[in-house]
Amino acid sequence: MIITIDGPAGSGKSAAAELLAQSLKIRHLDTGAMYRAVTLQAYNMGLFDTPYRDAELGTIAVNMKLTFDWNTQPAKILLAGQDVSNALRRPEITEMVHWAADNTAVRAELVRRQRSIAAAFGDLVTEGRDQGTLVFPDADYKFYLDADIQERVRRRRAELDRKGLLVEASKLLSDMIERDQRDRERPVGTLKLPPDAIVLDTTTMTLPEVVATLVKIIGNNTHG
Ligand code: DC
Repeated sequence: MIITIDGPAGSGKSAAAELLAQSLKIRHLDTGAMYRAVTLQAYNMGLFDTPYRDAELGTIAVNMKLTFDWNTQPAKILLAGQDVSNALRRPEITEMVHWAADNTAVRAELVRRQRSIAAAFGDLVTEGRDQGTLVFPDADYKFYLDADIQERVRRRRAELDRKGLLVEASKLLSDMIERDQRDRERPVGTLKLPPDAIVLDTTTMTLPEVVATLVKIIGNNTHG
């Protein structure tokens, strides 16, 4: 069973996908982390200071040793055997990740890897921007999570607060507007509502409510 969850930044996809996967006892793939891993590797190589950025990103994606430790929940993300799960969330990686997300060669390689992970497991909750539209058009369940932009900014701020990082609210709002625009306008892997997706507006919902709703929809359909 393949379950896709797409939606904009801050819509609550990652947390909901992880808890849904735990409840169904299947795995959760965070595809945003894969774009972040390409970015982290390029960043560590100093590639963003060179004019070769675009040409090299595809090569990095093809050659990077990205693996997941599926024995932990959520799965740890390993780059060349090193746990980079926290490093991937660093603000400078968030700022640079659009280079990888906009790159056709990177997308082709990551889509190939995503399909191969799904084929290996058979059952997967996979979450991102293009999972229900492009990567798994025949998924068994497609969800699209959304939330009001002010609420998405509030969630982002709470996440940064927890890490002790202070960022001005107006900067967070302008960053979110920019990310939405990039996600919705990139020529490949564009964030779109899959026509056959179930839409959930999570603006006024708690995380347990979101997960319970998803579990119920799947349970109702699976058991009659
Ligand atoms: O969900 P996130 O913030 O970790 O995603 C990081 C970036 O990767 C974001 O700019 C959107 C992009 N992305 C994408 O283009 N396609 C996906 N399937 C997942 C993420």
